Amino acid sequence: MMTLNLQHWRVELDSAGIAWATFDKFGESANSLSSVVMAELGQMLDAFDRAPPKALIFRSGKDAGFIAGADIQEFTQLDTADKGRELVERGWNLFNRLAAVRYPTLALVRGHCLGGGLELALACRYLLAVDEPGTKMGLPEVMLGIFPGWGGMLRLPERVGPAAAMDMMLTGKTIDAKRAKRMGLADDCVPPRVMENAARMLVLSNQPRRSLLFLQKLLNGPLKSIVANGARKQVAKRARQEHYPAPYAIIDIWAKHNGNALVAPELVDGIVRSSTARNLVRVFFLQERLKSFGKDVDWKAQRVHVIGAGVMGGDIAAWCALRGLTVTLQDQSMERIAPALKRARSSFARRIKDPLQLRAVMDRLIPDPEGQGAAHADVVIEAIFENVEAKHALFKKLDAVMKPDAVLATNTSSLKLEDLRTVLKNPARLVGIHFFNPVAKMPLVEVVSADGGDPEMARKAAAFVRQIDRLPLPVKSAPGFLVNAVLGPYMLEALRAVDEGNSPETVDEAMLAFGMPMGPIELVDMVGLDVAMAAGKALASSGAEPPKCLVERFDAGNLGKKTGKGFYDHSTGKPAKGLPGTIPPGLAARLIKPLLARTQQLVDEGIVADADLADAGVIFGTGFAPFTGGPLNYAKNQNG
Ligand code: NAI
Repeated sequence: MMTLNLQHWRVELDSAGIAWATFDKFGESANSLSSVVMAELGQMLDAFDRAPPKALIFRSGKDAGFIAGADIQEFTQLDTADKGRELVERGWNLFNRLAAVRYPTLALVRGHCLGGGLELALACRYLLAVDEPGTKMGLPEVMLGIFPGWGGMLRLPERVGPAAAMDMMLTGKTIDAKRAKRMGLADDCVPPRVMENAARMLVLSNQPRRSLLFLQKLLNGPLKSIVANGARKQVAKRARQEHYPAPYAIIDIWAKHNGNALVAPELVDGIVRSSTARNLVRVFFLQERLKSFGKDVDWKAQRVHVIGAGVMGGDIAAWCALRGLTVTLQDQSMERIAPALKRARSSFARRIKDPLQLRAVMDRLIPDPEGQGAAHADVVIEAIFENVEAKHALFKKLDAVMKPDAVLATNTSSLKLEDLRTVLKNPARLVGIHFFNPVAKMPLVEVVSADGGDPEMARKAAAFVRQIDRLPLPVKSAPGFLVNAVLGPYMLEALRAVDEGNSPETVDEAMLAFGMPMGPIELVDMVGLDVAMAAGKALASSGAEPPKCLVERFDAGNLGKKTGKGFYDHSTGKPAKGLPGTIPPGLAARLIKPLLARTQQLVDEGIVADADLADAGVIFGTGFAPFTGGPLNYAKNQNG
């Protein structure tokens, strides 16, 4: 033991003869399984082969959690098929070796335990989950376009049954400590104060693992094909194989190769080095970059004041309350605030099952028709009608009462910050915090700076956006900022294609096949034909006629989803779509072209700082096919 000289692990033997292996990755705030870390784990197991401990317990030396997963940076260096295979092989062999040791082993899981981290825990005899809000277990590899190749595809189905395991592996979703115990992933779930004692007792207990019920055993054995067929159907509804091959591979590797990817080398290379995996890893790093904005300010908002309890303001206020802030919500009268509160309550009730917690969140959302909250707020968000005079009148009042260091933000989509801020004593303070509809579903928020704006306010605004768990994208003030500016020409081109005689269904289907989450014509219905008309007029190159198909419907008062009818009938809540016709060759490429061009133009003009951030914004703001790595990355790859 004493000869071990490890950089990332501490190994101590306690008085009972139990070895405690504390993973504390050098120089990092979170633990990830790099090749060096894995090699050190191998050395540790070598030492234990020579002098077996009575038991071995894995725990984390980080506050952040147990293990976040494999080292994703290493995925970007797999330039040959051999390197890809070696990466899989190393983890598969090491965790098989861990699973086979004679002494009992236990993973003490506190905080996140993801990907390779969960595969390590699954290779232990016992898994003890610590019950706290941060404890989350999952195999999210599929979200990076790869598979859990270090034993996850073998051991998770053995532990929790194939259906539950497939659900976790194919969606990447995580589960908490209590749930992990209920489904048999964890042997027990204990509060933090007793975790070490509980770990000692469990690892020495000799208690057999809970085994699968007879039916589950059949489904994980001779009846695998039943589960596999069902899973394939589920996956096909969400992801096309040509865009996202990994979930299909996970099903096959489990069903045909008992979770051992190495038996199917073509599959390993086809997945690990696919352009999808490369691009999804890129998207992961883009997301990390967005998350880093606002980190440089040591400031936290406690109170938020939102003015305008309409579609946007009501949902922004509710989201902030859900994320733990105290929120005052102002509108012209109590009657106008009431529907927002009602909407908030039903959305909270869907997410929060504990009545006391639900009550606490509702209590944080305070109706404020007089606007008294403005004086106490750290962040004030204006989301009233899109009208300069109305916003000016409001800003004058706010300016007189707001704390001088508080953030004053507008959620405007189309008005210039430069025009809105003229009435302020200190015009430099105004920033844009531009949310997308629906607020609870759209991860991106544009943080808008006008010329000569106070950079400190923009930093605080970004920090606030992170605080409420959204992704801030810094942009300069310009019509449509980034997201709406790139959607405009794309929707316009789609409408032109309808004018040329393609059915809305055909146009939408072309883009769904490309990999968009929603077709552009359905998007027009969601945004509203009135908004599309206004945007079309403002954004289309001057002199161009608005599309006929749009004008006709607009004139007939069919404004889209909000009026129940636009291009599609929405009276049942879902658009009633007919069958698409044959898609003319090149239609998707033609529709996407103006979007790509506009994105590049906005980078050239400096509206968004660089091409990576533009790709991040368009992916997280519009759902632009993530497997492409973003519009500019896609364009680059198309051009060679
Ligand atoms: P909305 O019409 O649903 O709600 C506006 C609310 O503001 C109404 O309840 C109205 O009573 C209230 N209001 C108007 N003047 C007021 C005043 N002086 N004091 C207090 N309350 C006042 O509008 P919506 O769609 O929520 O838009 C609000 C803002 O958000 C606009 O600036 C819009 O450009 C922007 N926005 C809208 C998006 C959307 O998809 N609807 C997306 C992103 C931004």
